[in-house]
Amino acid sequence: MNVEKFVREAIDEIQKKVKGKAIIALSGGVDSSVCAVLAHKAIGNRLIPVFVDTGLMRESEPEKIRDLFSYMNLRFIDAGKRFLSALKGVSDPERKRKIIGELFVRIFEEEARENNAEYLIQGTIYPDIVESEGGIKSHHNVGGFPLNYEFKEIVEPLRDLYKDEVREVARHLGLPEEISERMPFPGPGLAVRIVGEVTPEKVEVVRKATFIVEEELKDISKWQAFAAITGMGTGVKGDNRVYGYIVSIRAVDSRDGMTAHPLELSWDKLKKIGLRITNEIPSVARVVYDITPKPPATIEYE
Ligand code: XMP
Repeated sequence: MNVEKFVREAIDEIQKKVKGKAIIALSGGVDSSVCAVLAHKAIGNRLIPVFVDTGLMRESEPEKIRDLFSYMNLRFIDAGKRFLSALKGVSDPERKRKIIGELFVRIFEEEARENNAEYLIQGTIYPDIVESEGGIKSHHNVGGFPLNYEFKEIVEPLRDLYKDEVREVARHLGLPEEISERMPFPGPGLAVRIVGEVTPEKVEVVRKATFIVEEELKDISKWQAFAAITGMGTGVKGDNRVYGYIVSIRAVDSRDGMTAHPLELSWDKLKKIGLRITNEIPSVARVVYDITPKPPATIEYE
């Protein structure tokens, strides 16, 4: 791929198609970030990037995204309380995903309406289109659900690119490594890394544990590495028996997320991660390493 030519043609396409205001759901992932930068170069302040902080993102992630895109007309929606209260008392994995997706779509529609956005820009890439043709997932959507809002046109400048090409464009556009080399992160965020009900306390525990895992494994080549809460168990802290969280570490390699293999991490590394998590997060009673490939397990826990 000729990156310079791609960028020139993408900007040209956006300028030709978008006559009014365009909205884009910015997640901080590489696809939507590249798309937002291209669209901003093309139409400047007629682009309305919307970032929804679900309260289910990783440590400092919303703030980093806000800083990085603050030069645009960014709509930063602090919706953590809305998401947590919608999830209260819900432990069924499918219902959790549905609630998050629907709330996300509702917020995005509110923004589209308020800002009179006539065009939708989406970071759909080639594999998304192939997958949706195969019936796996629909790509004309935001947060997994179709929008109930009529746009004049949906513009998808990345539709012919593979993920590695999008990363190449990201580097060319000068996006920081944190974005261009970002690990996949699920739309429903940390909620699918908490088995059962999501509570503010559990979100904090998973967020801190994930930060430790990412920090310890930052130099190791991988598809994804993270922490999850899989249950509760007993432990001993000081002289007391305690009942605390069981944190599971997941570190996998994969080509496309369809299959995955657990990494053969060194024993020293695993021990250090385990020690750091139980020391730095007092409510964690034990740490386990997930050795299951996909299949039969999925990469995420819900
Ligand atoms: P699973 O858990 O199905 O995940 O083995 C495969 C890959 O997809 C990511 N994933 C998601 N990505 N929205 C996304 O954008 C989602 O709802 C979602 N669920 C899982 C997961 O992180 C892994 O890379």
